[in-house]
Amino acid sequence: MTPPLQFAQWSLAMQTRIEDVLTTAMPAESEAPKSLHQAMRYAVLGGGKRVRALLAYAAGEFCGATLEHIDQSAAAVELIHAFSLVHDDMPCMDNDDLRRGKPSTHKQFGDATALLAGDALQSLAFELIASEQLLIPAAQKVTILHCLAFATGSRGMAGGQSIDLESTGIKLTQPQLAQMHALKTGALMHAAAMMGAYSAPNKDIQKQHAVDIFAKAIGLAFQVVDDILDAEADTSTLGKTAGKDAEQDKSTYVTLLGLDTAKELAQSLYQQALAPLEAYSQEADMLRSLASFITQRQF
Ligand code: IPE
Ligand code: IPE
Ligand code: MG
Ligand code: MG
Ligand code: MG
Repeated sequence: MTPPLQFAQWSLAMQTRIEDVLTTAMPAESEAPKSLHQAMRYAVLGGGKRVRALLAYAAGEFCGATLEHIDQSAAAVELIHAFSLVHDDMPCMDNDDLRRGKPSTHKQFGDATALLAGDALQSLAFELIASEQLLIPAAQKVTILHCLAFATGSRGMAGGQSIDLESTGIKLTQPQLAQMHALKTGALMHAAAMMGAYSAPNKDIQKQHAVDIFAKAIGLAFQVVDDILDAEADTSTLGKTAGKDAEQDKSTYVTLLGLDTAKELAQSLYQQALAPLEAYSQEADMLRSLASFITQRQF
């Protein structure tokens, strides 16, 4: 197991790196239409744990990709994630006024601009991967674009969000809940890791398979922990409104299983995530530490 200090240093370096990539990738606030560009930058920069970028970097390095070849994918997945948060917080969805410790994008810029900022962030994500700046073969870019497009759409994040809305006030079965969580949150986390893996110059099928199994388990674990934190943590720690799921009668692992069993499930998913990495020594240490970070996090 990597000493936590090594992971702390690595994750800090990668968080700084992705902030730089994102800052450069987005249109300047001074560029017209200013309100749209301001809203986009507001939604993306200066907040967030950047877990999806960390997944892309860790899985990419594990599979032999250089950081330069992972940057655009890591940024793209953070842009899609930020877009999903902007829309998730809007009054027609979860109606949350607080995100990353600041007013939600629609509170700051209005609903219409927030809606457009989400749309534009989504397009920018695909533009980044397709751009000439990313120096990997075109066939690999297509694989990465396909992976991100699938994970974002109706069979991924957007589909999961739709199930979330439809199931509000309804008690889902555990398999239905697992499906909803795997789509609304798991799909994008899985895509982040796979996009990193697909960035490597040489295809290592076994490593890609290990990343695939790892990322599915840790993607689901992430949302189980999100449900637990919504019930247990406070608003100032979370930077978003705590207790929202109970207030809105959402289907979550906490309402279905109770806090203790939800915590056991998160632990079991953590173990499931580690299993495919057993064959690998130090080269998988960052993935293992990241899995631990995701399941142990306090916000
Ligand atoms: C929150 O994601 C929304 C979910 C998909 C559960 P994060 O907890 O990764 O949010 P940030 O990016 O750190 O703000
Ligand atoms: C959000 O799930 C999932 C997406 C944004 C796709 P939640 O609604 O639980 O996320 P939070 O708790 O508002 O961050
Ligand atoms: Mg939601
Ligand atoms: Mg929400
Ligand atoms: Mg939540």
